[in-house]
Amino acid sequence: MDTVSPLKNQHVISAKQFDRTLTESLLKRSAQLEAEIKSKGKLDILRGKVVALLFCEASTRTSCSFATAVTKLGADVLPVNWENSSAKKGETMQDTLRTLEGFSDAIVMRHPEKGIHERMKPYLKHPIFNAGDGAGEHPTQALLDLYTIYRELGGIDGMTITLLGDLKYGRTVHSLLKLLSLFNGLTVNLVCPESLSFPEELLAEVDNDRIKINHSTELTKDIIAATDVLYVTRLQRERFTNDADFLKIRSGYNVSKETLDNAKEKMIVMHPLPRVDELNEDLDSDPRAGYFKQVAYGVFMRAALLEAVLA
Ligand code: NCD
Repeated sequence: MDTVSPLKNQHVISAKQFDRTLTESLLKRSAQLEAEIKSKGKLDILRGKVVALLFCEASTRTSCSFATAVTKLGADVLPVNWENSSAKKGETMQDTLRTLEGFSDAIVMRHPEKGIHERMKPYLKHPIFNAGDGAGEHPTQALLDLYTIYRELGGIDGMTITLLGDLKYGRTVHSLLKLLSLFNGLTVNLVCPESLSFPEELLAEVDNDRIKINHSTELTKDIIAATDVLYVTRLQRERFTNDADFLKIRSGYNVSKETLDNAKEKMIVMHPLPRVDELNEDLDSDPRAGYFKQVAYGVFMRAALLEAVLA
């Protein structure tokens, strides 16, 4: 794909790397790959390639989604068991990654350290994908989030998007806001307790002429009524420095079927998952519940990215 060639052999480590043209071409390519994968089951695009998956933090969706995308493109997965790896013997991360490069064409890595992918770049010959770096970023999740909006609502420009929950430590929203700021006429409502506000330094990077940002500590009926995408996040308990602070705000936000009483008929509720108690199961049967579709869409966006980097 000529239009996505800027990613060839590139590390995919931050949403900052994506401009509007590249993002749009990835959205279109994801839709093509979705159709092809659904009709043929498995493609040949990356036959012979190997992608190593190194998850040094818990993961269900991201690891399985990457593994599925790799397989659907005809490549092979090298799953690395971090708990049982030589890191336990004191091996440095750069040595672990250089070792994995001996067996693979690219590495997908999740790690609790913010910025680790950038820090490892000088050591690497092959591309690395950021599958989450602590409270930093999660660029491939943000891309699949955009793909979900694009598929479910038919576009992204002009939407009102409400990001709810832990906006301080939630890495998915950090990457998502960066990508949303590539689109036109968006209103973004940031709804969170004051102690979990979106990091100021990240807000400073957003182009205010293009995107209107509102702040609220409460998910009001007015906000719900205007919202096209309600993006719920989990309180990132593991990133709180003090668990007592987490316990104080844990039940702050809860989205249920009743929350959508005033919502538009055509809107979607998204969540990167896992959910804990911020999103009720009573919403699951509502046609506006988009979170499990979001999981499925992720495979196609990750396939488009893998192709753009590796094909
Ligand atoms: C998220 C993550 O790991 O950042 N999940 C995901 O990748 N789908 C969100 C979370 O853990 O709350």
